[in-house]
Amino acid sequence: MARDNKRAKPPQRSAAKYLPKTPSLSSLRKAAARCRGCDLYKDATQTVFGEGPTRAKVMFVGEQPGDSEDKEGHPFVGPAGKLFRKAIQRAGIASGDAYITNAVKHFKFVWRGKRRIHQKPKRTEVMACRPWLEAEIEEVRPRVIVALGATAAQALLGSSFKLTKHRGEFVESEWPARVTATVHPSSILRAPDEESRHEEMAKFIADLKIVAKALKGRGTKD
Ligand code: URA
Repeated sequence: MARDNKRAKPPQRSAAKYLPKTPSLSSLRKAAARCRGCDLYKDATQTVFGEGPTRAKVMFVGEQPGDSEDKEGHPFVGPAGKLFRKAIQRAGIASGDAYITNAVKHFKFVWRGKRRIHQKPKRTEVMACRPWLEAEIEEVRPRVIVALGATAAQALLGSSFKLTKHRGEFVESEWPARVTATVHPSSILRAPDEESRHEEMAKFIADLKIVAKALKGRGTKD
């Protein structure tokens, strides 16, 4: 009998089966702490779930927790997070209006000497983690979703989305919210000198002011 030599694709890893039957932000957070939907839990200290009010007006989505977030268990508390929180404040977005999360809920890194160096998550890891993000959007029902950086933007808007082309625009999406994307705050920290860091911060705040303005409008989508 002829044999089919083609190897079957391994099943796609996913967090879906770890989702609670009755979702709420607190049941989701509890369930995510035990997620084994991909291998990133193995090296990370803990799951870093999103935080903010249940009915936040705006949801910010970063890439993944960094070294500080992994240790502390909260999103955006390290150097990029501090810069980000300063920027939203300067843009006039109240922290009480914001739910802050990440596309991937575990820190991915490699050891370099004694330091843990961030590694970009693979598309399969982003997709494996997406059920948590979908559930957060479903629970929070924000009016506006802001992707911070290309990984978050592509998690929300598909892998063909180009941040360089559509930064700061509200774009068509499957989500019941207005969706936009801007740079990741860590890119501002990586600017080569003080002057460009200043310029990049000003551009970032300008993007966030567009969001602040949209939050003053009514409804979810135009
Ligand atoms: N970078 C992110 O994308 N998320 C965090 O929580 C921290 C740094």
